[in-house]
Amino acid sequence: MIAKSKTKTLTDVAKLTNAQAKVELMRLALEIEAHNERYYQKDAPTVSDAAYDALRQRLEAIEAKYPDLVTTDSPSQKVGAAPARGFAKVQHAVAMLSLGNAFGDDDVTEFVDRIRRFLKLDADHIPALVAEPKIDGLSLSLRYENGDLVRAATRGDGFTGEDVTANVRTIKDIPHTLKGRHIPAACEMRGEVYMLKKDFLELNKKQAEADDTVFANPRNSAAGSLRQKDVSITASRPLKFFAYTWGEMSERPADTQHGMLEWMDKAGFVVNPRTKLCKDVDDVLKFYSKIGEERDTLGYDIDGVVYKVDRLDWQDRLGFVSRSPRWAIAHKFAAEQATTILNGIDIQVGRTGALTPVARLEPVTVGGVVVSNATLHNEDYIKGIGNDGNPIRDGVDLRVGDTVVVQRAGDVIPQVVSVITEKRPKNAKPYKFPDTCPVCGSHAVREEDEAVRRCTGALICPAQATERLKHFVSRLAFDIDGLGDKQIQEFYEDDLVKSSVDIFTLQKRDARSTSKLMQREGYGETSVRNLFAAIDARRKIELHRLIYGLGIRHVGEGNAKLLARHYGSIENFREAMLAAAKGTKDEENTTEAYQDLNNIGGIGEIVADAVVEFFAEPRNVKALGELLREIEVKPAEQPRKSSPVSDKTVVFTGSLTKFTRDEAKAVAERLGAKVAGSVSKKTDYVVAGEDAGSKLTKARELGVAVLTEDEWLTLIGE
Ligand code: IVH
Repeated sequence: MIAKSKTKTLTDVAKLTNAQAKVELMRLALEIEAHNERYYQKDAPTVSDAAYDALRQRLEAIEAKYPDLVTTDSPSQKVGAAPARGFAKVQHAVAMLSLGNAFGDDDVTEFVDRIRRFLKLDADHIPALVAEPKIDGLSLSLRYENGDLVRAATRGDGFTGEDVTANVRTIKDIPHTLKGRHIPAACEMRGEVYMLKKDFLELNKKQAEADDTVFANPRNSAAGSLRQKDVSITASRPLKFFAYTWGEMSERPADTQHGMLEWMDKAGFVVNPRTKLCKDVDDVLKFYSKIGEERDTLGYDIDGVVYKVDRLDWQDRLGFVSRSPRWAIAHKFAAEQATTILNGIDIQVGRTGALTPVARLEPVTVGGVVVSNATLHNEDYIKGIGNDGNPIRDGVDLRVGDTVVVQRAGDVIPQVVSVITEKRPKNAKPYKFPDTCPVCGSHAVREEDEAVRRCTGALICPAQATERLKHFVSRLAFDIDGLGDKQIQEFYEDDLVKSSVDIFTLQKRDARSTSKLMQREGYGETSVRNLFAAIDARRKIELHRLIYGLGIRHVGEGNAKLLARHYGSIENFREAMLAAAKGTKDEENTTEAYQDLNNIGGIGEIVADAVVEFFAEPRNVKALGELLREIEVKPAEQPRKSSPVSDKTVVFTGSLTKFTRDEAKAVAERLGAKVAGSVSKKTDYVVAGEDAGSKLTKARELGVAVLTEDEWLTLIGE
């Protein structure tokens, strides 16, 4: 699956209002958390490190401007992600924190200046720094007690990791017992588990032959290999380890970083041989460019250089700020780039119906890896106007035949970052993003403020089918006992259930079939009987459960209930939606049915459009019709009838001061009134606020009762 990314022009942080900042921080936090989970728990990141860093930087910049908006659960206050299920949890005696980033030489100079200011060092005191290659693997904490390895844990969220002791004991670079004389009673050694690039390629080859998981890069491969429930699998994987720091240490065997590394080497660890003690900024920058040139020959992936203050007493004084030490920084390498030809653009349809464009490239080597595909994120990205976490493009659109710059940043999915316009073929045409789904042919629509175009064939698109079916049987929808995600997947693959109606015809078909359900592995006579009974029990279903079960975008449980209550019966709902769907072809949907839908309190335009788009696809309607032949839909519970405004049609107009328009609608509807958007002969009351205009005039012309806000409140008894 390729990352979905929203495209929006970002407002300058300095210009954000407090409210905008709050909303954006929430959005960034959600996005960062999702990436964290994919990276740390699933070993399957979907954005480049650079794109991820950009999100974090923006979050931190906004938090720096509005410190009062920093929440305790902000990603800036956390490291990594909480441990995944399946491994026991381990509390780290000393938190495993992260490093701040430097992207340019200036950031490094600023880092050293900050240290000198903090320590109040005079002009001739220049802190020596240890430069260490930044290994692109996963960090590990190894606890030794009286010299024996007792526990190994992953970083997890920095405070709690996963217990991978048994797995770690299979790694040759990690000693089970420490060597030498100066062994602290309690000692937590930390470093990076990684895999050599050649080992990674070889492993992937074997995995592919065995039709097993193929890893995206050496880092994922190392993480996936370490976190195996079956330790013998870890043992068979060529994992390696570099030690570079420590957590709890009952006594320190040295008083400098380089002294500690020497001790680690003597104790039996592998310390990176490229590590260098540098005397000043010039020295570290030289080291950085040298190692940058040698990067491809190292045999393992590094994504930068870490600089650490050598003197440990200074490290202690410098301490930490939020999630990273003041005494260390990671100087990242720029993304690796190459030029190639864009041979084509394919559209992939994800499980939620998102249409994602993928660049088919003339194969090219970027940082030692052959790249022939790259994500194009979405429609705007092709037009050159998308950014938001993606590399910022320059307004030039992408055309098939273009010469493009491709980038990989220690990264899974390469990206197309720019077009070399001078090389554009004369006949190259702007790319036209499809407005139909390439998988099922349904209309594909894009919502306002959304970068993603989605297939509307919710019920019929094979690309979405299993997810939709899983949703259909889920707890808030049909909630069928014994029919969960696993069964749906299996039944789908075996052509037993391809659409929702198939669930209800399963028994009939099974009776006729020669290969019976009860002969399937894991099934018996009783379980099949129970399954059929559970399905039958759901043949009579509440309207809101059916509406929710259709899987219409934006129609969650709450909206499904609002719709059910408003329309009352499936017949009404279906008829009204079909009438509203007639207006989807026009620039603006002016059908009365659409206006009515849009006027339901709590149902906004986005939801209304999504529902109507669903009904505008004839095959969805057909699928629903088939389903309705198999089930009976109970009418929705109606609001209480006794209110003075039940069944009355009300129009609110002008600026209301006692309540908002949405509140007014919600209350009126709760009392059984219908709220309309325009005044007609059918209108019973017009509630007019200040500056009411044409609707008020029309009400007077038609002789409709006009109420003030207070009169309305009196009428409804509030
Ligand atoms: S020191 C408190 N040294 O980079 C700081 N980290 O971005 C402890 N890493 O979580 C980290 N090589 O997984 C340190 N020579 C090195 C490193 C290194 C790779 C990783 C480590 C850390 C991450 C921070």
